[in-house]
Amino acid sequence: MEELKKRIESHISALSQFTATPQKGTTRLTYSQEDLQARNYIKEKMKECGLAVREDGLGNIFGKLEGTIKDAPSVLVGSHFDSVPNGGSYDGPAGVVAGLEVAALFAQRKLKPKYPLEVIALIEEEGARFGGGLMGSRGMTGLLSEEDFKNLKDQDGISAEEAMVKIGLDPALPKIRDPKTMKAFLELHIEQGPILEEKNIPIGVVEAIVGLTQLDVTVAGLAGHAGTTPMDRRSDALVTAATIISQLPGLAAEEGEGTVITTGRLNVFPNGANVIPDKTVFTIDIRSGKEENVLNVIQKTKELIQSYNKDGIEITIDQPLYIQPKELSKDVRSLLKKKSGELGIPYCSINSGAGHDAMVFSDFTDVGLIFVPSKDGLSHCPEEWSDSHHLAQAVEILFETAKSLTEAEED
Ligand code: GLV
Ligand code: MN
Ligand code: MN
Repeated sequence: MEELKKRIESHISALSQFTATPQKGTTRLTYSQEDLQARNYIKEKMKECGLAVREDGLGNIFGKLEGTIKDAPSVLVGSHFDSVPNGGSYDGPAGVVAGLEVAALFAQRKLKPKYPLEVIALIEEEGARFGGGLMGSRGMTGLLSEEDFKNLKDQDGISAEEAMVKIGLDPALPKIRDPKTMKAFLELHIEQGPILEEKNIPIGVVEAIVGLTQLDVTVAGLAGHAGTTPMDRRSDALVTAATIISQLPGLAAEEGEGTVITTGRLNVFPNGANVIPDKTVFTIDIRSGKEENVLNVIQKTKELIQSYNKDGIEITIDQPLYIQPKELSKDVRSLLKKKSGELGIPYCSINSGAGHDAMVFSDFTDVGLIFVPSKDGLSHCPEEWSDSHHLAQAVEILFETAKSLTEAEED
């Protein structure tokens, strides 16, 4: 256990160096130089565990240990390796590191699986560069089409394909993976909330993941001089956006049942102190465990926005992401609980308020997701921290679960 803890700490610390914002948390945008550095590290470690490494046409990384049954579907273990702007060192990487350490344990014990074991490191789960999010898993499962992918651009107008090529990836490689090649997907993630820490329980076995949507709103108004344009002759895109945004929390509160709404990104154009803004673009993230709540709040949000579509203001709404709440596989949940019990590691059931690639895969294969506690419940910030002891316990559970699912045997 001590050695496993040290190895986990060393991976997390190595990956945290690949950031565009040193001293200010992890900023690792998809297809950036930091992505390339983390990618090379992950591929290197996969090879050290004896895995055959490949990348798909999205840049997802796979490290495969073949099984003895010919062409059998794989048991995938992993998570994503991109980050939000100024995020932490654990959201995503903890799960990739867990995959690497499960593979390292297979190698150490010279296990021969019947079904292949694949460590997987996914791109752009956060959507911080190209919007929407869950791009690695949605692309792999065909939920994001080739055409959608071709149209993706970042805030500087750089297309996903251009950005891929720039770091040496090949967008022409196949993107979609036949679900028949997947037997199960296992993910370890930090909880990103306060529940496990408060309960003092090291492992949460996730039952269900919230439904969520992202709306991208563009408000177009009229630019003008800040000093000479009378107040009653303005079509100010920022004042309109601010008026809308300030009413959004009320819509979620009114819906209740844990429904949440967030505007996390707001861009103002042309962004000059003495120019009336002629354009604002902002995001709206809506989530709830009940799909009905998400749909109600989307409807009310759209009605609210439409009511400001007047007086020289034009508003358009895009919806780059919509996912229903997802219940995860009962069988895998039971297996994870059984393994935790056998290892003597305390666990509880929990629901996830954060989105995960696991929710995308759950429509295509059997999925299991486990959480470890987050210090002070913090995540998506530089202070994000989880105890390597808990991470090591989670790796042991995933190892035993992967061993069962791959039907691995000692040599
Ligand atoms: C990912 O962290 C999300 O929940 O948006
Ligand atoms: Mn995240
Ligand atoms: Mn994550």
